[in-house]
Amino acid sequence: MEKKYIAFLYNIRHKYPKLNDARTQLETDFDDPETIMIIIKHLKGCGFRVLPIEANRKAYLKLYRNRNKILLAFNYSEGIYGSDRESHIPSMLEMLQIPYTGSTPLTQALVLNKAKAKEILSANNIPVLPHQLFKNNKEKLNKNLKFPLIVKPVAQGSSSGITNKSVVFNKKQLRRQISFIIETFNQEALVESYLSGREFSVAMLGNPPKILPIIESCHKLLPKGYFHIDSLEVKWLFEEESEFNHLICPAKISKKFKRKIEKICYDVWKALNVRDWCRIDMRCDRKNNPYVLEVNSPPGIIPPEVSNMSYFPLAARAAGMSYKKLLRKIINLAFKRYGIKK
Ligand SMILES: Nc1ncnc2c1ncn2[C@@H]1O[C@H](COP(=O)(O)OP(=O)(O)OP(=O)(O)O)[C@@H](O)[C@H]1O
Ligand SMILES: [Mg+2]
Repeated sequence: MEKKYIAFLYNIRHKYPKLNDARTQLETDFDDPETIMIIIKHLKGCGFRVLPIEANRKAYLKLYRNRNKILLAFNYSEGIYGSDRESHIPSMLEMLQIPYTGSTPLTQALVLNKAKAKEILSANNIPVLPHQLFKNNKEKLNKNLKFPLIVKPVAQGSSSGITNKSVVFNKKQLRRQISFIIETFNQEALVESYLSGREFSVAMLGNPPKILPIIESCHKLLPKGYFHIDSLEVKWLFEEESEFNHLICPAKISKKFKRKIEKICYDVWKALNVRDWCRIDMRCDRKNNPYVLEVNSPPGIIPPEVSNMSYFPLAARAAGMSYKKLLRKIINLAFKRYGIKK
């Protein structure tokens, strides 16, 4: 049987994230059905035959049954269950020997866990912030961590669990947020220094990677009383308002500083063995020293019909690459890696 299909692996959000309902924040990393439909439409528009597969418990069966038809899998999945959920689909694809876009299970599991990723980066002399993980709220705060601090879930994305209350200035606020994270997400709370300097997001594409125009997230537009972070409020409330355009791309930075950021990103890519594409989030201290906050793989690619604020497509557009061209590029990079001729 001729292998013709691009299998598109995705996760669907069943509830829109609400600030006052923590349970709805569990699926923040996923996409709503309309977004997934439009991505599939674009993939088809690129000339591919597409086999959409929701990355749920039945995904393995669908992949197994269709393994002889699938030329390549486009892995856009986040995974649903367990602490290493982003590694599940790549693991299935490895087992079935189906070529796929993006990084391997090891990298996927590492980047999902912000603390483990930082350990690897730190061992490679890449600047990361000191942190502490809390399994429960009885553990003492390490002396090297000074307020203000930020409290985040160790393994979530799209700012789930990160709200205006996440920046904490005293022990009482710290304990409140640690409890909130552990109870809501059933995972460790990561506590790290809070940086108030400039924030950048860096999209990388290729093997070896090229860096797309750097995005700066400008927090000045936030209403009074909001901490300068890309919180759930920013991504799910303010970004919905058309006049709230806080992303600057390309970021206005000196050549020297750009080179510094780029060097860090290339080092991150190498240290974590990233393939094809990723997006690195960084933040600076007051002296403009950048630190890596986290690595996104796969990064979000919400199509322009749904949002103009999706970081990776925004950086691609700034590089003159349309949404379809971006999808085609990701697929072609994987084809090339596997030596697949279309
Ligand atoms: N240590 C920190 N100091 C200052 N701000 C921070 C820090 N950690 C996170 N933030 C803020 O919170 C935002 C979300 O944090 P982070 O990128 O770690 O979470 P995420 O949910 O994985 O994000 P993404 O939407 O990129 O998946 C950052 O973009 C930044 O604005
Ligand atoms: Mg981030």
